[in-house]
Amino acid sequence: MAESLTITDNRTGKHYEVPIQDGAIRAIDLRQIKVAPDEFGLMTYDPAFMNTAACKSRITYIDGDRGALLYRGYPIEQLAEQSDFLETAYLILFGELPQQKQYDDWTREVTLHTMLHTNIAKLMEGFRHDAHPMGMFISTVGALSTFYPDAKEIFSPESRRLQTLRLIAKVPSIAAYAFRHSIGRPFNQPDNDLTYAGNFLSMLFRMTELKYQPSPVLERAMEVLFILHADHEQNCSTSTMRAIGSSHADPYSALTGAAAALYGPLHGGANEAVLRMLHEIGSINNIPAFIKRVKSGEGRLMGFGHRIYKSYDPRAKIIKKMADLVFDVTGKSPLLEMALELERIALEDEYFVSRRLYPNVDFYSGLIYQAMGLPVDMFPVLFAIPRTAGWIAQWEEMLNDPEQKIIRPRQIYQGYGPRNYVSRDRRP
Ligand code: ACO
Repeated sequence: MAESLTITDNRTGKHYEVPIQDGAIRAIDLRQIKVAPDEFGLMTYDPAFMNTAACKSRITYIDGDRGALLYRGYPIEQLAEQSDFLETAYLILFGELPQQKQYDDWTREVTLHTMLHTNIAKLMEGFRHDAHPMGMFISTVGALSTFYPDAKEIFSPESRRLQTLRLIAKVPSIAAYAFRHSIGRPFNQPDNDLTYAGNFLSMLFRMTELKYQPSPVLERAMEVLFILHADHEQNCSTSTMRAIGSSHADPYSALTGAAAALYGPLHGGANEAVLRMLHEIGSINNIPAFIKRVKSGEGRLMGFGHRIYKSYDPRAKIIKKMADLVFDVTGKSPLLEMALELERIALEDEYFVSRRLYPNVDFYSGLIYQAMGLPVDMFPVLFAIPRTAGWIAQWEEMLNDPEQKIIRPRQIYQGYGPRNYVSRDRRP
């Protein structure tokens, strides 16, 4: 028997059968519940979409209680151990792991699109010397739509594939240009002999040497960080990508909005907050007093807790392991010792245990980026590079979903009813 929910309307005494499918009822099925025929019908009220599924998706699965994250069914731990970013991006975008030839073709094609038009470089040179790299990143991705007007053909699979290649290939170049601009150094051209992560490091850090040789440990660490951040289902920026894409804007414009959502401190900025918190604590001796303050409601332990994960964030586990390898190359950060001690105390403390607060992905990622020589301003940009794969995959899924339309939530209006205009000289 098909599952359904029986609703009784106390106002009329009428009963309604609302089908349950995939653990959800369709909000539109509630519209039939009305007192008068001209009444609009019952709506659901769900600020911040805490309990509303806005799409069906086959890309990323999260089990917050068990601390599991799967891309297209593959556990994040296995991908972080065995895959590289371009292969993972292929998986997220096209649904399956590539065969060898598909992998080689995909890698070659992405590599061929890494260069930026010289006018993009000029555009970026126009920013003030102290421009925030994420502001530069967002503006420049938006500007790409004027360089590739063919991107408007969003219903052409060939055009979508070309824009996908361009975006995956160019976001590290834009990110590196933004970094170089912010430190007053000339832009580095891409080196197509290097891997995706290796080339990014070269574009960030190459000085006068003719050939930059990335440290294999740092190259792999960057690759793993990219894998961990590639998608995370319907978060704020991904929902923004889908919302803008639903109006049939081109993918560069939609991705600009997604990146803007990521810029906010509640989304892409938490690892910066972790570093600031560690600096404020100052030393291991001050940790007990800090924890006491957090428990009494004065501030939060940044990098702890998650809306979905009520268990150890699986990405945090992987990053923590990698941090040791990175610090062997870069030298230990005094902040790491503090972070480890904070984690040790918090995981034993009743306050954090009872609220199921565990380290999230941001608790250690900032420390690694900082050890690699990247300033906190770059953190959201580093997040945006791999998330581009997830954003595009979700955008494409939305476009191909016959149930999707332009996004248009309803509201509960609580303002004035009709009232007459009052001339300026008669206003109270
Ligand atoms: N430190 C101390 N207490 C906390 C923390 C924390 N980091 N997080 C939650 N709590 C407490 C709350 O005070 C609340 O306690 P109460 O029930 O006594 O009032 C309880 O735990 C539940 O907290 P909520 O705010 O309801 O949890 P929510 O799911 O809304 O918040 C969030 C999740 C925003 C991530 C929160 O845990 C937080 O602010 N963490 C710190 C910031 C952070 O690390 N953000 C990064 C998230 S990961 C990402 O975006 C990539």
